[in-house]
Amino acid sequence: MNKTILVTGGTGYIGSHTVVALQEKGYKVIIADNLANSEKEVIYNIEKISHVLPQFEPIDLANEQACEALFNKYSINAVIHFAAYKYVNESVNNPLRYYKNNLISLLNVLNEMKKHNICNIVFSSSCTVYGTPDTLPVTETSPVKKSMSPYGNTKQVAEEILEDNCKADRHLKVISLRYFNPIGAHPSIKIGETAKGIPQNLLPYLTQTVIGKREFLSVFGNDYNTPDGTCIRDYIHVMDLAYAHVCAIERMLHMGSDINYEVFNVGTGKGYSVLEIIQTFEKVTGMKVNFQFKGRREGDIAQIWADTSLANKVLKWEALYALEDMLLSAWKWEKELAKS
Ligand code: UFG
Repeated sequence: MNKTILVTGGTGYIGSHTVVALQEKGYKVIIADNLANSEKEVIYNIEKISHVLPQFEPIDLANEQACEALFNKYSINAVIHFAAYKYVNESVNNPLRYYKNNLISLLNVLNEMKKHNICNIVFSSSCTVYGTPDTLPVTETSPVKKSMSPYGNTKQVAEEILEDNCKADRHLKVISLRYFNPIGAHPSIKIGETAKGIPQNLLPYLTQTVIGKREFLSVFGNDYNTPDGTCIRDYIHVMDLAYAHVCAIERMLHMGSDINYEVFNVGTGKGYSVLEIIQTFEKVTGMKVNFQFKGRREGDIAQIWADTSLANKVLKWEALYALEDMLLSAWKWEKELAKS
């Protein structure tokens, strides 16, 4: 019988791509999402790709009763927990909102998992837990540094909550995936990134500038200690990131592991500067990016990229898409959005 995966935050950017990747592998998916930063319509776009409409529950997991009702309603084999707020700046201005939403929803989910004997959870973590790394690339054993933002701290604390619960309950299996910078859209261009309001991340802001929704892209800082002075990140195609979740689920459900708390970096292992992103975007799309250098953005680190050898070896996963594919699909998606 097909295994059932609860995907919290499944109408969001990474969540929706992961739902498609799970369905491709034959998993039955239940999405729980409060639509705080996504639209219900995403489930129909998922159906257009996979020909399977995922079950959808429009609930807020920070609401204990709603979370309880969800777990009472379905028989679930594993959970992928994406549902969380994700903006660094917003979290600095409103830390309570972030701690409350991101941590209470995790606690509610874990509590229901325990009550229902559900032992497998994949958690959306972030490379933000490394803070400003001392050496590059970062490996999973690189130190977790004091977080630069309440958002980042919610990820660190969530990892600690999960690890403590694994120590207390040897049946619980947790895989924390530390994401680097996901960009791009599904090759069908039916799902992609749809930030509500003004985008805060580089790619949606860049594509919105090129399509004419924004006047210019601000490049935050050109005086960093990097070859061209702009920040370096490890950009990963969102479908590669989605497949990493499938590999994590397969490891938990089918292969087993003696260790019940595991952490993996999910990036490409390559770093690109903001200027390299702009130049490559211009090359692959033939479009001009109107940008201006501005001061550094608070909380930004100069550079980070991943050592992905652990995920390559243990999860038997690797990133397949090149930067050119990521940028081209992001542009196609922006043009698709402009049609509606
Ligand atoms: N940038 C610009 N202009 C913009 C937006 C971003 O120059 O308009 C720059 C940033 O300064 C940074 C790079 O582009 O150097 C990437 O910025 P993003 O905001 O796209 O991504 P971040 O690396 O800051 O943050 C992302 C996620 C976080 C996650 C973090 C981990 O948004 O959720 O990666 O490093 F925690």
